Amino acid sequence: MTGFVVDALSGDHDRAGFSCGVDALDKYLQSQAGQDARRRIANCFVALAAGSKAVAGYYTLSATSIATPDLPETITRRLPRYPLVPAVLIGRLAVDQRYGGRGLGAALLFDAIRRCAAADAAVFAVVVDAKDERSVRFYEHHGFIRFGSRPLSLYLPMATAIALLGVDRSS
Ligand SMILES: CC(C)(COP(=O)(O)OP(=O)(O)OC[C@H]1O[C@@H](n2cnc3c(N)ncnc32)[C@H](O)[C@@H]1OP(=O)(O)O)[C@@H](O)C(=O)NCCC(=O)NCCS
Repeated sequence: MTGFVVDALSGDHDRAGFSCGVDALDKYLQSQAGQDARRRIANCFVALAAGSKAVAGYYTLSATSIATPDLPETITRRLPRYPLVPAVLIGRLAVDQRYGGRGLGAALLFDAIRRCAAADAAVFAVVVDAKDERSVRFYEHHGFIRFGSRPLSLYLPMATAIALLGVDRSS
């Protein structure tokens, strides 16, 4: 992510001018993200252009789980018969329109996956909640697979992510 640093959201960061084109995602960053982090509901990570405190993009991470029957048989036949498998949810991901189309969204997605791969708690897959069909296409473009039961939710098995992106616990 040349020219950007990614940091955990803090009071030092300027969020007031953030505008990704989806009002609910702007408002979340401006008024809810800090509270969710303090209450351990979701951690928020922000991209800042070098030398700037203004947020250029952000994503959130929370623990979640996947009901094993929501996964295809090609995956579950290699799993123990547990009802749930552990996952991390990227609940929100957004890039300020001023920085759109330059690879920042993809870089934030990779940063999120790298963090999940490095976590001490085991993570079987990364799950994303897309806002609409356009966002679904963004995630499909990066290898995510739709859940049959929830059309705006997608997952990427961590083993696939590690193979695709070359990330692992040491990177
Ligand atoms: C979706 C979003 C995060 C993309 O960020 P971005 O920085 O403009 O995207 P990037 O420049 O990193 O694009 C990376 C790749 O994804 C592709 N891409 C971007 N948006 C896409 C879409 N809607 N459908 C398919 N592919 C898409 C790009 O063409 C690019 O492809 P390439 O790597 O083959 O060149 C951004 O447009 C955004 O914040 N949108 C509003 C909020 C939103 O929809 N968030 C997502 C779900 S909550």
